[in-house]
Amino acid sequence: MNSISEIILTVTVLAVFGIVVQVKGNVCLKPDFYQNLTIREKLIGEATIFYQARGLLDCYRQCGFYSLCQSVNYDVKTGQCELFASNESHTEYAVNGIVMNVTNRYGQLLGSCENHACSNNEVCQVEGKQHSCVVVGCHGNPDITNINITSFEAKSLWYFDEIVLYACEAGYHPSINATCSTNGTWSPFKCVPFARCNQRSVCENSSAEGEYWFYVRSLKSWIKSYCRSTLSGGFITLNEMNTFSTPAYKKDPDTCMQTDFVAPDIGYTDFQRIRVNMVDKQLAVNLFLFSNSTYNRQTFGRAGDCVDNDVNDTASDCELTGRFVINTNGTGIRIKSSVTWETWGVGGRVGNITRSQDGNLIEGYCGSVVGCGGCQPTALYFEADPNYTPPSDSATFIKCKALL
Ligand SMILES: *[C@@H]1O[C@H](CO)[C@@H](O)[C@H](O)[C@H]1NC(C)=O
Ligand SMILES: *[C@@H]1O[C@H](CO)[C@@H](O)[C@H](O)[C@H]1NC(C)=O
Ligand SMILES: *[C@@H]1O[C@H](CO)[C@@H](O)[C@H](O)[C@H]1NC(C)=O
Ligand SMILES: *[C@@H]1O[C@H](CO)[C@@H](O)[C@H](O)[C@H]1NC(C)=O
Ligand SMILES: *[C@@H]1O[C@H](CO)[C@@H](O)[C@H](O)[C@H]1NC(C)=O
Ligand SMILES: *[C@@H]1O[C@H](CO)[C@@H](O)[C@H](O)[C@H]1NC(C)=O
Ligand SMILES: *[C@@H]1O[C@H](CO)[C@@H](O)[C@H](O)[C@H]1NC(C)=O
Ligand SMILES: *[C@@H]1O[C@H](CO)[C@@H](O)[C@H](O)[C@H]1NC(C)=O
Ligand SMILES: *[C@@H]1O[C@H](CO)[C@@H](O)[C@H](O)[C@H]1NC(C)=O
Ligand SMILES: *[C@@H]1O[C@H](CO)[C@@H](O)[C@H](O)[C@H]1NC(C)=O
Ligand SMILES: *[C@@H]1O[C@H](CO)[C@@H](O)[C@H](O)[C@H]1NC(C)=O
Repeated sequence: MNSISEIILTVTVLAVFGIVVQVKGNVCLKPDFYQNLTIREKLIGEATIFYQARGLLDCYRQCGFYSLCQSVNYDVKTGQCELFASNESHTEYAVNGIVMNVTNRYGQLLGSCENHACSNNEVCQVEGKQHSCVVVGCHGNPDITNINITSFEAKSLWYFDEIVLYACEAGYHPSINATCSTNGTWSPFKCVPFARCNQRSVCENSSAEGEYWFYVRSLKSWIKSYCRSTLSGGFITLNEMNTFSTPAYKKDPDTCMQTDFVAPDIGYTDFQRIRVNMVDKQLAVNLFLFSNSTYNRQTFGRAGDCVDNDVNDTASDCELTGRFVINTNGTGIRIKSSVTWETWGVGGRVGNITRSQDGNLIEGYCGSVVGCGGCQPTALYFEADPNYTPPSDSATFIKCKALL
């Protein structure tokens, strides 16, 4: 420790006091003021307000005008005065630094601001015998649901037009950027849940391919959906076998014997993912991006078979052998029980369709009695599975940095 320069610094400090005290007249400083100084130190962290002071006491005094100021850094060389809202005392060595705790304000130094009760986002201004509180920024959290409080509390004072990044909780984006308005209030934003894949593009950094959570307001629930970077719509990833067939044979109408046969309706399709429309709450049956087929594609939910009959023959009573399996187990959604199947083709019949207790497994047999035909669902409305929600970490709640 260089004790000579320490003395010089101390003398400088006291000299600065002397001048200011003289300027202010007969202000009497209690000894504890000097005790509350830490010389050759500075507070670490980001100061809330910067002020060019005319001396240590001026810096100390300035702190008194701000309700949120609790400590200051003063640089004896440059006169730079940094006001801190926090009383946390992490300091480091600084050759010209002085740290002051401002636990009590010397009211005499503040003139008509002596007993001011300005808000934390205001500074008190002396106006003769009166004082006024002037808004200097925004402080604290807006009273809005689903905001990211950590972001707002990252700074004690936000300046006008400053934008809070990551203003909303994960899964939500601000309706407009969260900006500090010049009247000291936050811009009237709301935190809006992401509702489908194409909404990811409103925010910076959220268009990667993967599983995401979307809030479907009309279902009052978060639905897990797979988004592709290039497609606006999403998919439900199916965990189990979802298979649809119009088998590659035709049945003899009398013996029901099967002989190999391929026609435009015939084929097998397995789906790994199904396109979902969050707005209509419907699954799209004819998007085959995540499916594989043998022979001709079968739309989701469809089944049928062919019988070697003439339309003028009497209807065959062979078993209907086209089979479909819809299994939404583990996806968090299920097909609504109101969904019905209609016939397609020539002589199509809807056979037995069974639905598991939990509604996740729907299996059916359909076919034709005189030609090639079968069944298909009318519209595949879905609902949230009341018994099962996938683990929250199995998909991403989108974080929005700021609007684009
Ligand atoms: C100095 O610190 C003491 C103890 O924290 C406190 O009681 C006193 O008011 C402080 N003085 C000033 C001028 O802040
Ligand atoms: C300022 O306050 C902090 C926290 O109360 C304390 O640790 C530190 O010693 C104080 N500094 C001075 C100079 O009083
Ligand atoms: C800082 O201030 C808060 C409330 O104003 C108080 O609870 C806390 O004990 C203080 N911390 C220190 C280190 O003085
Ligand atoms: C909340 O804010 C903090 C601090 O800005 C950030 O680290 C975090 O990622 C934010 N959370 C979300 C969901 O954006
Ligand atoms: C503050 O300013 C914003 C934006 O100019 C405005 O929307 C809001 O109504 C104002 N609030 C008050 C309390 O004046
Ligand atoms: C944003 O995207 C860039 C580049 O893809 C990546 O490096 C960065 O980590 C992303 N940031 C967030 C917050 O996701
Ligand atoms: C789809 O691919 C799987 C795995 O390769 C295979 O086992 C299955 O038979 C295929 N399904 C159809 C309908 O082609
Ligand atoms: C079925 O019967 C109608 C009327 O009897 C006849 O016009 C038609 O040609 C027959 N179709 C076949 C395929 O035999
Ligand atoms: C439904 O029909 C198929 C073929 O016709 C048959 O194999 C199956 O046993 C039937 N299932 C039920 C539950 O009746
Ligand atoms: C649904 O899937 C889970 C595992 O993902 C399994 O434990 C459960 O038995 C399945 N339920 C049905 C009805 O298949
Ligand atoms: C939102 O803020 C970001 C970050 O400052 C900015 O780049 C973007 O243009 C703003 N977007 C809107 C719509 O205000």
